[in-house]
Amino acid sequence: MFDEGKFVEEAVKKLKEEVKGKAIIAVSGGVDSSVAAKIGSMALGENLVAVYVDTGLMRKNESREVESLFKEMPLKFVKVDAEERFLQALKGVVDPEEKRKIIGELFIKIFEEVAEKEKAEYLIQGTIAPDWIESGGGLRDTIKSHHNVGGLPSILKLKIVEPLRDLYKDEVRKVAKYLRLKVAERQPFPGPGLAIRIIGEVTKERLEIIREACHIVEEEIEKEVAKGMEKPWQYFAVLLPVRSVGVHGDRRAYGYTIVVRSVASIDAMTASFSHLPYHLLERISIRITNEIKGINRIVYDITNKPPATIEWE
Ligand code: XMP
Repeated sequence: MFDEGKFVEEAVKKLKEEVKGKAIIAVSGGVDSSVAAKIGSMALGENLVAVYVDTGLMRKNESREVESLFKEMPLKFVKVDAEERFLQALKGVVDPEEKRKIIGELFIKIFEEVAEKEKAEYLIQGTIAPDWIESGGGLRDTIKSHHNVGGLPSILKLKIVEPLRDLYKDEVRKVAKYLRLKVAERQPFPGPGLAIRIIGEVTKERLEIIREACHIVEEEIEKEVAKGMEKPWQYFAVLLPVRSVGVHGDRRAYGYTIVVRSVASIDAMTASFSHLPYHLLERISIRITNEIKGINRIVYDITNKPPATIEWE
């Protein structure tokens, strides 16, 4: 039986022993990094610098929410605006593994820049068990390189510390609740962000489309949850580079396709697609096609994991 209190106590003790000096932690506002930051601040206090890199690949309003969450914690908070650097690095890139590697490496580079400035020697990461299990190595095949693992360059200037390494998602949530973090029930969001929800090249225009589509999916599903529907584990949109013919008013349209994805899961290792009611799917479809220019077809992903993964890339 997993004991949250005992886990926190031991993790704090271990961090105090392991980290001698200043550490930085990458925070994204997700449950994993928030829990790691909270535990880090309990162990290191002022010696912990929380770095939030605004990659431009974040969800709507995310940066504002992250800022308000970490400004409440007793640690040093640093925000880096790096949208242009990420867009430049991703220019022309379509391969999912290449995207992940580029994003991961740029992340680390930015961390290293901040760490050098802050004179930190350690990097605390919110890596959890499924991240490294699915990133391959040893006996396992590489399913996809989760960015906080696959993106690490082989020669690191920072010493990596991963206090949540042995936990599964449901256990991290329990710890978050125990620590009274507001993010406890927040759905997971992948490290490479919206970049892996755009199939094909990542551009500013496509980012705006997928950001708005993900927001509509979240908003409509959460409205239904407020009325009593069971909350899916994760729900979002994916932009496909596939175009199809449609009609807009009395004109021919040739627009792009959005996939709606919603799944039930416990630990992200397996998942089953949510049986969302048709009226909800219809509302999402109508809103996306009405509110987002250039989209004229919405499809619903009815694949479980396995054989699919939760994200499309
Ligand atoms: P998949 O798509 O592999 O996703 O079934 C399992 C869970 O992990 C999230 N995910 C990531 N999280 N870095 C992360 O921190 C990543 O690179 C990454 N890729 C996927 C995904 O959203 C799902 O919750």
